[in-house]
Amino acid sequence: MADTQGSEAMPYLSTEPSPNASWAVNLSHKVIAITGANRGIGLGLAEVCLANDAAVVYSLDLSEPDEDFQALAKKNPNRFKYLHMDVTDEASIKQTVDAIVAAEGAIHGMIANAGMTKHQPALEFSREQVEQLFKLNVFGAFSCAQAAAKKFIELGIKGSIVFTASMTSYRPNRAGPSAPYGGTKAAVRNMTHTLAMEWAQYGIRVNSVSPGFVRTQMTAKIEAAPDFDTKMKYYGGMPRLALPQELGGAYVYLMSDTATYTTGIDIPVAGIVGAW
Ligand SMILES: NC(=O)c1ccc[n+]([C@@H]2O[C@H](COP(=O)([O-])OP(=O)(O)OC[C@H]3O[C@@H](n4cnc5c(N)ncnc54)[C@H](O)[C@@H]3O)[C@@H](O)[C@H]2O)c1
Repeated sequence: MADTQGSEAMPYLSTEPSPNASWAVNLSHKVIAITGANRGIGLGLAEVCLANDAAVVYSLDLSEPDEDFQALAKKNPNRFKYLHMDVTDEASIKQTVDAIVAAEGAIHGMIANAGMTKHQPALEFSREQVEQLFKLNVFGAFSCAQAAAKKFIELGIKGSIVFTASMTSYRPNRAGPSAPYGGTKAAVRNMTHTLAMEWAQYGIRVNSVSPGFVRTQMTAKIEAAPDFDTKMKYYGGMPRLALPQELGGAYVYLMSDTATYTTGIDIPVAGIVGAW
């Protein structure tokens, strides 16, 4: 069991680093779950977590693993695993978190990353399309965080939760406008602050990362547009898309024990493209 301090009525878990902390930024001995890690950003994050000594990384995804997943799994024998999970289904999330703990004995990190967008003018959105975005990006992310927090508390683990938000949570995406999507990501980024405050007493940290443009299937159309180079030029900053792996260091830091006093923040990783 983890150490405690404070009154009996309010059993705070000490958030101080352990006396034998190594201060190396790594994930050794940690079991990390990433939603939507069969491809795109999630898969890139899995690669960087594994490169930084995570004991095991789980991809919790709706789709079946393809050759990109298999290639990373082959490079990391028994360390990159897949469980079928739908982040919009609370029962599926609970079952999956239980299965991870049954197999590995613990879970230390949850990256709530699965999400989707739809680029189209606000006037053309149906209510159903808006609801679909919120169901996956907000309700799904909340349920994953809540399920992980309940399990951390049950096991006395000072776990870390990181949401994948987006730069669209701060300002419009001029290259591919989607007002509802920006709204979902603003909700995610906002939840981070309150969840961090509520769960600090259990030693649980909650943060988010806001990527800019990242090269995945989600942005394939944006990059293929004939005016992409011109748009990038006027956006300023680094005129390119990021590789998913270029986000990984921020997540690894937030998952690691060097971040024991880092909670309730967002880290924008966006090459200062389209700055404010
Ligand atoms: N690509 C970008 O430029 C960019 C920028 C900012 C934020 N983001 C965010 O990053 C996250 C990942 O985006 P991506 O570009 O890698 O997308 P992607 O479409 O390439 O991958 C999304 C993954 O999530 C999985 N998924 C979808 N619905 C699911 C569900 N209900 N349950 C479980 N898994 C599900 C998919 O199967 C897929 O593997 C999303 O939250 C997205 O909003 C992306």
